[in-house]
Amino acid sequence: MSGVPYDTEALRPSPSGLWQHAPVITTRLITPGDAAVLADLVVGNREFLAPWEPVRPDSYFTYDGQAEAIAESLERYERGQQVPRVILDEAGAVVGRINLNNVVRGAFQSASVGYWLAQDAGGRGLATAAVAELVAVGFDEQGLHRLEAGTIPENVRSQAVLLRNGFEQFGYAPRYLSIAGRWQDHLLFQLLRDD
Ligand SMILES: CC(C)(COP(=O)(O)OP(=O)(O)OC[C@H]1O[C@@H](n2cnc3c(N)ncnc32)[C@H](O)[C@@H]1OP(=O)(O)O)[C@@H](O)C(=O)NCCC(=O)NCCS
Repeated sequence: MSGVPYDTEALRPSPSGLWQHAPVITTRLITPGDAAVLADLVVGNREFLAPWEPVRPDSYFTYDGQAEAIAESLERYERGQQVPRVILDEAGAVVGRINLNNVVRGAFQSASVGYWLAQDAGGRGLATAAVAELVAVGFDEQGLHRLEAGTIPENVRSQAVLLRNGFEQFGYAPRYLSIAGRWQDHLLFQLLRDD
């Protein structure tokens, strides 16, 4: 795409076909019972996640904070505004979160994808497979037409996850979101349903 400072085409992995063999079943709907494991994960991965996420209050890194975050997510799910899921590893353990956020209906039929994975679960295709599954949820189960995701330019791992799933960069948004305490530029990606 012209006019953007990063050539995301160059980030496409070499055609080894690795990601075509992604593990099966990598997400499920979040439940209140996930609070303890998610609290452990956000505490254990606080430094790893900090550069890529909004600043979180200290309460987020507690059992109660995670229980509250889950309850809010499930309320948004009930209202049709969000699809909150956890990412599972090969043994079925919770290793991260992935959401469809800001579900908009009407003429837009669009939602935003957001995700994080524990550091020690990275590097083996779980996030890529989880996004693939969320794409199916968004298009087939939710009947959406479009999925969007934004990453800061430095987040090449997240961009690679999106590109492996067929997302294309469609924009560059200056000072778009407050990440790690600063208004940061974002590369904007989208995937359109074939309809
Ligand atoms: C972004 C994030 C989810 C990406 O995680 P990841 O581990 O790079 O992604 P995956 O789980 O899909 O693994 C991909 C890696 O596994 C390899 N891999 C092995 N088997 C694979 C398979 N079957 N399918 C896909 N990739 C596979 C890929 O080649 C790639 O390797 P590389 O890291 O050497 O390039 C993770 O870094 C993260 O949580 N970061 C912090 C939060 C964040 O940035 N969230 C997104 C904000 S926009």
